[in-house]
Amino acid sequence: KETKDQLIIDAGQKHFGATMCKSCGMIYTASNPEDEVQHVQHHHRFLEGIKYAGWKKERVVAEFWDGKIVLVLPHDPGYAIKKVEDVQELVDHELGFQQVVSRCPNKTKTFLFISDEKRVVGCLVAEPIKQAFRVLSEPTGPESPSSKECHRAWQCSDVPEPAVCGISRIWVFRLKRRKRIARRLVDTLRNRFMFGCFLSTNEIAFSDPTPDGKLFATKYCNT
Ligand code: ACO
Ligand code: ZN
Repeated sequence: KETKDQLIIDAGQKHFGATMCKSCGMIYTASNPEDEVQHVQHHHRFLEGIKYAGWKKERVVAEFWDGKIVLVLPHDPGYAIKKVEDVQELVDHELGFQQVVSRCPNKTKTFLFISDEKRVVGCLVAEPIKQAFRVLSEPTGPESPSSKECHRAWQCSDVPEPAVCGISRIWVFRLKRRKRIARRLVDTLRNRFMFGCFLSTNEIAFSDPTPDGKLFATKYCNT
């Protein structure tokens, strides 16, 4: 009985004290000193990571009312590569991905969405691939025992299908989500991945999607 009461009190306090920082998007408890220290550390690292001062030579591949998309290729100047590495580190940290070694690092294309406030608010990393396995739609309804068990273990077809382009990372800054930034990144990728052609949604594949990634991919590929 005691533990139950304790749990309720804890949950209440967490809910009461939770704040979201309007600059870095971190959710933390303002009244908790440890949380505040963690926030200050994350805040500086994050804002430094996504800061985009502008480059002398930048490859702008799309322009919008609220920002632009810059493409970075493997042999670009060191400052561009460094920015891509810094952003990817923040993204991997947020997604809980271990350092993943790229299969073909000199063929990687990275698209950065730069906001009007000169910040990297979106990132898409793409690589050429030869085949992919289709994610099978999950069984829904109460009769499906597996649906609750694991978020990540999507069922995949065991028949490989030809594909051209693999999206190994797609990320949008928490405070800028649902503004079609991811959609615009993928549209631009389809236009730019292979010279002179627009890839169909069948030719692109999302690798190891998170729940967010899967919701986005399903919606994107059906519209
Ligand atoms: N829940 C439900 N539907 C969603 C979601 C979501 N979380 N995100 C996107 N969609 C659907 C919606 O239908 C949306 O259109 P609508 O807003 O008009 O309804 C449509 O997809 C287009 O969404 P965008 O606005 O273009 O997507 P956004 O810019 O918010 O970015 C992303 C989506 C990249 C998945 C973002 O939520 C994110 O960064 N999440 C955390 C990182 C992550 O999990 N990335 C995917 C990893 S998998 C991989 O990298 C291969
Ligand atoms: Zn902050």
